[in-house]
Amino acid sequence: MTNIILLGPPGSGKGTQAKLLAERIKRPHISTGDILRAAKGTELGDHASEYMNRGELVPDSILISMVEDRLANPDCASGSILDGYPRTIPQADALNRILSSLDRRIDLVINIDVPDDRLITRLSARRVCECGATYQLTFNPPKKEGICDLCGGALYQRDDDTEESVQNRLRIYKRETQPLIEYYENQGLLTAIDGGGSIKEISGEIYAHVK
Ligand code: AP5
Ligand code: MG
Repeated sequence: MTNIILLGPPGSGKGTQAKLLAERIKRPHISTGDILRAAKGTELGDHASEYMNRGELVPDSILISMVEDRLANPDCASGSILDGYPRTIPQADALNRILSSLDRRIDLVINIDVPDDRLITRLSARRVCECGATYQLTFNPPKKEGICDLCGGALYQRDDDTEESVQNRLRIYKRETQPLIEYYENQGLLTAIDGGGSIKEISGEIYAHVK
């Protein structure tokens, strides 16, 4: 069983790396941000997007029951890669309860560390596609401007990648999520990765730890 958490500030590369690792080790990639964005148009999705667009966290109660449902899905029986959850101490405590009720445990927590100025550069030039692909105009551009390499769809900017929202996400990350580094360090589960290298270098380093 392989249950892995990717921790890190907004723009650190959690989504990029979780996707690569999921393909490599054949475990589902669970991104709570992606699940909430995919719920757009439903009552839950519209309620969540009010928080998301401001760069605030969606309430713990919503996230905890969402993750509990997702982890009960049979595709998670031999493990999963969590990206963007947990983000608060109550979410982490709930995850321990959820996993132990399923007779599972966390195997590894990877913290991707990137300095603030680089996070802002990355997010301001991020472009995404409905198919789930993510680009960065300088470091990881699409072959054809504005068009997804994988599906030919039109690329767009996420609603929460405005400068104001990014600043707020960083502030909230420091207050609510950064304490999880010490939380998992104390449980002997944390591995820190320097997220400043290339996407390929970082994925190689993560895989070396997972193996
Ligand atoms: P979420 O979607 O999780 O956003 P986030 O944490 O702010 O992180 P990002 O997705 O912006 O960044 P990332 O680390 O995935 O980086 P990426 O790989 O894209 O959450 C969004 C919102 O949903 C939250 O603000 C909150 O409102 C709500 N939410 C979600 N989960 C929640 C929870 N548990 N509790 C409460 N609320 C929750 O990379 C960024 C860019 O950099 C890309 O353009 C990429 O191509 C590029 N890049 C990646 N790696 C590199 C590299 N090594 N070098 C250069 N460029 C790189
Ligand atoms: Mg992401």
